[in-house]
Amino acid sequence: MPSSTLSVTDNRTGKTYEVPIQDGTVRAMDFRKIKTSDDDFGLMLYDPAFTNTASCRSNITFIDGDRGILEYRGYPIEQLAESCTFLEVAYLILFGELPTAPELDDWVYEITHHTMLHENTKKFMEGFRYDAPPMSMLISTVAALSAVYPDATHVQDPANRMLQIKRLIAKMPTIAAMSYRHSLGFPYVYPDNDLSYTENFMNMLWKMVEPKYAANPVLARALEVLFILHADHEQNCSSSVMRAAGSSRSNPYLCVASAASALSGPLHGGANEEVIRMLDEIDSEAAIPAYIESVKAGKRKLMGFGHRVYKSFDPRARLIKEIAHKVFGVTGSNPKLDIALKLEQIALQDDYFVSRKLYPNVDFYSGLIYQAIGFKPEMFTVLFAIPRTVGWLTQWQEMISDPEQKISRPRQIYTGARQRPLPPIAKRESAASGA
Ligand code: ACO
Repeated sequence: MPSSTLSVTDNRTGKTYEVPIQDGTVRAMDFRKIKTSDDDFGLMLYDPAFTNTASCRSNITFIDGDRGILEYRGYPIEQLAESCTFLEVAYLILFGELPTAPELDDWVYEITHHTMLHENTKKFMEGFRYDAPPMSMLISTVAALSAVYPDATHVQDPANRMLQIKRLIAKMPTIAAMSYRHSLGFPYVYPDNDLSYTENFMNMLWKMVEPKYAANPVLARALEVLFILHADHEQNCSSSVMRAAGSSRSNPYLCVASAASALSGPLHGGANEEVIRMLDEIDSEAAIPAYIESVKAGKRKLMGFGHRVYKSFDPRARLIKEIAHKVFGVTGSNPKLDIALKLEQIALQDDYFVSRKLYPNVDFYSGLIYQAIGFKPEMFTVLFAIPRTVGWLTQWQEMISDPEQKISRPRQIYTGARQRPLPPIAKRESAASGA
């Protein structure tokens, strides 16, 4: 008998089944043959929120949540953050290898020359109300690009896919910056092809009447590193949405809009915004113990704490803390930093957080940096979406090219009524009457 199997005895029938184990997993479909009779459907696996289910094979991003390890294509995040540009890392994530010097030149040229939006798209954005949240504008505008590029539906064509990937990576900062300028009532700024990816983004955000925008090099590098840290994170909520939406072969602009919608929630990428609101609410170090008690009483969550996968520390949070000090050296400290540091210190000594392995995640300090650089909280999740577009698109590519993948379609355990006789309208009871 091979050793890599699982013996399962069904106590309903007394039958024993051998289930192969590969890569530390069993296949859910192997359980389907476990039946009580021929017309029995067979066993299913129940896993709400996919806490213990691998939905794909992937060679993009490796995470060891217990040891706090994050690698893109096998390279530790710390080394990439230390030595690379964002577009270099984007190339690595997308193509699997770091670019050579000529490959990087070509890649940067390609991305740089896809940053413009059609004037119609700009006009579309101008139609939003003055107080439209930038994340809503970003999601809607990315979805609207599916109307600008209807040929993008040819997702089985690798060359077509690559063109859309370049367009999306290039245009996200432009859309993001225009959303931001819109919320301030400022005219939109066109891309400047002389500048790097992040410097050009800063140019589109903040250029006013000067003929040429010059980014502060420390802030530009900080943004670059933040983009690197956010570029991919394997099968997180938004990447899973990207894969599921793409599995029906939808236009990639719509898939990215779907993924960005998932990112916008406060339990995912929207947490950075919530952290700032939480620190505002706490307001002083003296109020921290009472706040912690209300979290422990289950009245609220400590935003920026906890992670589905990281159970010792989030390596991105450690790197972000280092960036924060560099940024504050230029901008002056964020007055909320002291509250955040104290909050972290108190939480990490409290058994509630220690026993549940709750540590600061990437979002705990990123908002403080963004705020010090000058962004409003409504913009924080947009700043997450720009680099994560690289991860979404790479996950999408991998999914489409994987012969094992099909349209994404989970099963359910049906708990509702069955076979009810249809009552005439006069005899129906309102659903509201039972509420
Ligand atoms: N504050 C207080 N308690 C928490 C927190 C928190 N931030 N996070 C988890 N817990 C508690 C839960 O209440 C639960 O306690 P219990 O066992 O007594 O019921 C226990 O810790 C386990 O938590 P789960 O909810 O099972 O963890 P899950 O993996 O489902 O959730 C999540 C992970 C969503 C990140 C959660 O920790 C959370 O809501 N954090 C705050 C929001 C946040 O910072 N999100 C950003 C995540 S990183 C990212 O997406 C980029």
